[in-house]
Amino acid sequence: MEYQYKELFRQNLVEWFNKEKRDLPWRRTSDPYKIWVSEVMLQQTRVDTVIPYYNRFLKKYPTLQSLAYAPQEELLKMWEGLGYYSRARNLQAGVKEVVEKYDAKVPDNRHDISKLKGVGPYTAGAVLSIAYNKAEHAVDGNVMRVLSRALHIKEDIALPKTRKIFEQAVDMLIDPQRPGDFNQGLMDLGAMICTPTSPKCLLCPVRDYCIAFQEGDADQLPIKTKKIKNKKIKYDVYVGYDENGRYLLEKRPDEGLLANMWQFPMIEISKESVLKSSDEFQLNYNVDIMDFVNDNLLTFKHVFSHLTWEMNCNLVKIVKATDLPENVCFYSKEQINQLPMPVPMLKILNVLN
Ligand code: ADE
Repeated sequence: MEYQYKELFRQNLVEWFNKEKRDLPWRRTSDPYKIWVSEVMLQQTRVDTVIPYYNRFLKKYPTLQSLAYAPQEELLKMWEGLGYYSRARNLQAGVKEVVEKYDAKVPDNRHDISKLKGVGPYTAGAVLSIAYNKAEHAVDGNVMRVLSRALHIKEDIALPKTRKIFEQAVDMLIDPQRPGDFNQGLMDLGAMICTPTSPKCLLCPVRDYCIAFQEGDADQLPIKTKKIKNKKIKYDVYVGYDENGRYLLEKRPDEGLLANMWQFPMIEISKESVLKSSDEFQLNYNVDIMDFVNDNLLTFKHVFSHLTWEMNCNLVKIVKATDLPENVCFYSKEQINQLPMPVPMLKILNVLN
């Protein structure tokens, strides 16, 4: 790209950003910790969803120190509903490292910041450019979409190796004076103008420098191959209550999907299942149930990024419970409200009166 083109692209983008930028809470601070929190929340989650979580989270954990030593159950409760809960655990681990190894100062260079738990190339570049005004790339899916169009890059953005190509493109284009505004300008352009479908090219501040606009194929970029299909798992869920109206809950293992979150017991239904699920439930959890109170409490699907739970929920009365497994316990509704629960479990909780 010619020097003048580059200058004009930058200038138009940054000027547009300064005029049109969205008023977002993390844009009212230059505290690298707060910007880090916002970028982690924004990774898989929409801006509108993030805003209230971000505000609540920073009220509760206003400093690195306050987050570093927060109890994990409380942290998961603060993150409840945002999904991808390993983000919260990794963020806390990274924050703890900063407190303990870097004297509570978020590193201001890519080498050190990238070593922190949960900080990948995108988060590193976002924090460095926005909080420290360093000319560092921050390439996510939105930025790849914008630049695939502007520069007519036709690599498959579903391939991990493709990100490097876009990082080099940003390195070439970024405004060294205002790198934070430049990166956030790309983000806002992707969110407001250069959208996945029906891009609003006539409103675009850089359309004069956009090859896809000239070629008229913006809506066909980026190139992205299809993901493998989402795996489905069927569960019978047992919402069991005792004579005091307390519910039987189970804490998930401390690794893997939804680690350490609480759920109603779930029995997977598969072709290999030999026992009736109600028998498997009683056997695995050491409980006896009276007949089903309601074997059609709620039926729904919950879609995660890579799999779908097909849930069929049963309300049962538990008449005997001896030697519950160590991660299983009866809780009152008030107690349950304090526990971190994944969204599908909140849906069930919602139909219990
Ligand atoms: N998406 C990811 N990071 C963002 C930011 N800083 N501003 C707006 N949208 C974003």
